[in-house]
Amino acid sequence: MFGVCYYPEHWPPAQWEQDAQMMAELGLTYVRIGEFAWSRLEPNPGELDLAWLDQAILTLNNAGLKVVMCTPTATPPKWLIDQHPDILPVDPNTGSTRTFGSRRHYDFSSVQFLQQSLRITRELAVRYGNHIGVVGWQTDNELCCHDTALSGSNNARSAFQVWCANNYSSIEKLNADWGNVFWSMEYRDFDEIELPLLAVTETSPAHRLAYRRFSSDQVVKYHTLMVKEIRQHAPNQFITHNFIPMNETAVDNFALAAPLDFTSYDNYPLGRTDLMLTGAPADQLRRYMRTGHPDFATYYHDQTRGLLSRSFWVMEQQPGPVNWANNNPRPAPGMIRFWTIEAFAHGADCVCYFRWRQAPFAQEQMHAGILRPDNSKTEAWPEAQQAMLEVSKLDITHQTTQSASVAIITGVEGLWVSDIEKQGEAYDFNSVQFSYYSALRELGVTVDFISVDADFSPYALIIAPSLPIIDSAFVEKCKNSSAEFVFGPRSGAKTSEFGYPTDLPPGLLQTLLPIRVLSVETLREDFAEVLTWNGRQYESCRWREQLDAANTEVIATYHNDEPAIVRSGQFTYLGTLTNRAFLLDFLQQQCEHNGVRTYRFDKDIRVVQRGALMFAFNYSEQPQVLPIAANTKWLLGNATVEPHGIAVWRATE
Ligand code: GAL
Repeated sequence: MFGVCYYPEHWPPAQWEQDAQMMAELGLTYVRIGEFAWSRLEPNPGELDLAWLDQAILTLNNAGLKVVMCTPTATPPKWLIDQHPDILPVDPNTGSTRTFGSRRHYDFSSVQFLQQSLRITRELAVRYGNHIGVVGWQTDNELCCHDTALSGSNNARSAFQVWCANNYSSIEKLNADWGNVFWSMEYRDFDEIELPLLAVTETSPAHRLAYRRFSSDQVVKYHTLMVKEIRQHAPNQFITHNFIPMNETAVDNFALAAPLDFTSYDNYPLGRTDLMLTGAPADQLRRYMRTGHPDFATYYHDQTRGLLSRSFWVMEQQPGPVNWANNNPRPAPGMIRFWTIEAFAHGADCVCYFRWRQAPFAQEQMHAGILRPDNSKTEAWPEAQQAMLEVSKLDITHQTTQSASVAIITGVEGLWVSDIEKQGEAYDFNSVQFSYYSALRELGVTVDFISVDADFSPYALIIAPSLPIIDSAFVEKCKNSSAEFVFGPRSGAKTSEFGYPTDLPPGLLQTLLPIRVLSVETLREDFAEVLTWNGRQYESCRWREQLDAANTEVIATYHNDEPAIVRSGQFTYLGTLTNRAFLLDFLQQQCEHNGVRTYRFDKDIRVVQRGALMFAFNYSEQPQVLPIAANTKWLLGNATVEPHGIAVWRATE
């Protein structure tokens, strides 16, 4: 299934019919509308104007298209801000109010805004909740994008005080948990509590962790109430949300996704690769600047699928250059088709392109659409059309989604810990997690992202690259699981209140692995020493723990022969960060030891399975020959995969 993001309010109504017909001609099924339209839906307080929206829906429906309706809450109109200026959020880094004039200018702790959001949502849900031409809903837009999860407002401060009172039995308990005796930070009452912002130097990490937890709860509460409101009036229509990269929301994405029917992701492979590789050497960026990094789009597809363990949508996909990265190249020919099929291969059931027509005005006028402003078709048109034909021939959406045997445990607390206590410049939750994912993907391993609460039974191998806060329930689950576990450095290294375990890290994990971390050193990114494993030499770098491993098996050592990686039964612990070469060899051994098949193709080839279909994607500029049995039944392409090409074959053959 395919769709497009459309803003009827951007175009004269006389244009809508032709647009709708062209969408149908392209083969689209869904059109997402209404997303930022609050100032047109309610031009004056309480004065709703939905006639134009009715007309737009009718026009789209008449062309056979189905509508996905959005709540317009990412853009509260000027009159609403003037009525309730405390809707505006306060930048936590500067203390200044973020102003009207773009989007996402709202505070999750503004009670006024919550009420207004639910009111406009209700109006729309009542009107379209039973509309035959409206099939589902998207809540808001890209929650937390533009760093909007946190606010330093008075509203946030008061709500935080209440949150603290609800989460700590007494102020004495809070003082003790946060270590407030240190630097005389003790409070006498909950209403004295400050936000941990703009202080002279570092505030208590426990205080900051509590603020992150609180802010996450605020976002989740706002969103859950919105979903509830829609659900009440639209019981037979789906509800989804278009996520940004999971590490960028900086909130608990599992909780955010919980009330949805399915999750969606906004896929901008080039823009996001450019931002991710900002500091990388130019040759690395150049290599992928028109294709995107081979693991970057799928890293988020797999996480999006993991939030609810079910297939998802790509709600927005880049159709050409975007306008918001440091540099905004054009995709290499064929990449629109490539990214589309790649999304389906990783569990998408629908891909929508952003946007229908390039806007000749306002902020995104340099952002491509499927059409140019003069209505001519861009390269995205024939490529999307080709992808649609191929997806329908392969019958992809009728294939079950991934049945991975390998899972990565993810969760926002690891990210918060790495943000709050850097300790070393080079330790960053997302890059650590990505390095494991990327190595597994280079080995052709299909990966699920799961939370600590997931059912572990489907997996042979479970990897926790960065899990600093754990509880005893998790430890029990691990004990009772038959999977092999690999824990990265820093696992179990913090108590739930961001303390140092008095029995030393890895804290509660010591029940599984009888080791103690005696000290931690962090090193410059460009400094590495030898790590010896399996008779071969690799690198130990950036984050390195000194381990007391007297009671367990040592499987790798540092340059000075001290233990670096240890194992006890089904549990392996890495006391260090390392490099790609090590992760490839080590994870390959772990997979094979656990009966998980791996492939070692060219480094720009990615293989993935969905249902009975195997896919290979060639990210390189050279044809690549897959060493696959001669009698393979090819469904798309063949053993020689063209540059930026795709091959599909039956998994069982
Ligand atoms: C997305 C956003 C869209 C548009 C797009 C531009 O993140 O949801 O509204 O701004 O980026 O690439």
